[in-house]
Amino acid sequence: MLEPSPAAMTAHRARGSASVRLETRRLVIRSFEPGDEAAWLAMVHEPDFGRFLPPGPPATAETFRRMVERRSALERDAGYAVWAVDAKETGAFVGQCGLYPAEWTGPEIELAYHFRAAAQNNGYATEAARAALAYGFSRVGLERVIALVMPANLASRRVAEKAGMQLDGTAAYYGIEGLRKYAAEQAWWTEAGAEAPASV
Ligand SMILES: CC(C)(COP(=O)(O)OP(=O)(O)OC[C@H]1O[C@@H](n2cnc3c(N)ncnc32)[C@H](O)[C@@H]1OP(=O)(O)O)[C@@H](O)C(=O)NCCC(=O)NCCS
Repeated sequence: MLEPSPAAMTAHRARGSASVRLETRRLVIRSFEPGDEAAWLAMVHEPDFGRFLPPGPPATAETFRRMVERRSALERDAGYAVWAVDAKETGAFVGQCGLYPAEWTGPEIELAYHFRAAAQNNGYATEAARAALAYGFSRVGLERVIALVMPANLASRRVAEKAGMQLDGTAAYYGIEGLRKYAAEQAWWTEAGAEAPASV
């Protein structure tokens, strides 16, 4: 089934406000809110969540609060962030996806996607990744977005590929050697050129 075209993706960002809301066929992608705390903490504490992510201290309510502050500031200043993703059908929080400065320092901009275990393998990450890339290129005016994936994270590799990114070699980021580095550029990336998820 076809994924949303730019015309089908509605985006709203009120001038001067830190609130983004993107709609794809099955998802609402929006700024995080304080009320997302329980669902977000539940996701990051799922057993396999951090399997292919850089190690970090256990997330707490304070981690969530600081994360929302940081993402709101990024959205206000740069026009993008990592956003909450809800399934339209149920209204439930299913994951997060969006853009942020790689290693939190930039200058490269990185695409991130993390979904609740129960919501995986429905094509949601791909649908959200494509919407985030489209938003970054067309609304924010970014020229290039990267994604960094541990080689063993086959699902994430598939998402980057299905979202129309191209492998750009391997590199060290976050102190981890040999990450697969994918890139998409405004000059050639199109939603139409990205592969529709087979599972949808
Ligand atoms: C990576 C992740 C975001 C994928 O989310 P998702 O919503 O399941 O992704 P999609 O359904 O859009 O696509 C998943 C693809 O990977 C494939 N896949 C899933 N598990 C796989 C595995 N173990 N081996 C090979 N392929 C696998 C699926 O079949 C699908 O490909 P297909 O459409 O060609 O069949 C999800 O697994 C996740 O949140 N993982 C934990 C956090 C994480 O690692 N994030 C990425 C950091 S780089």
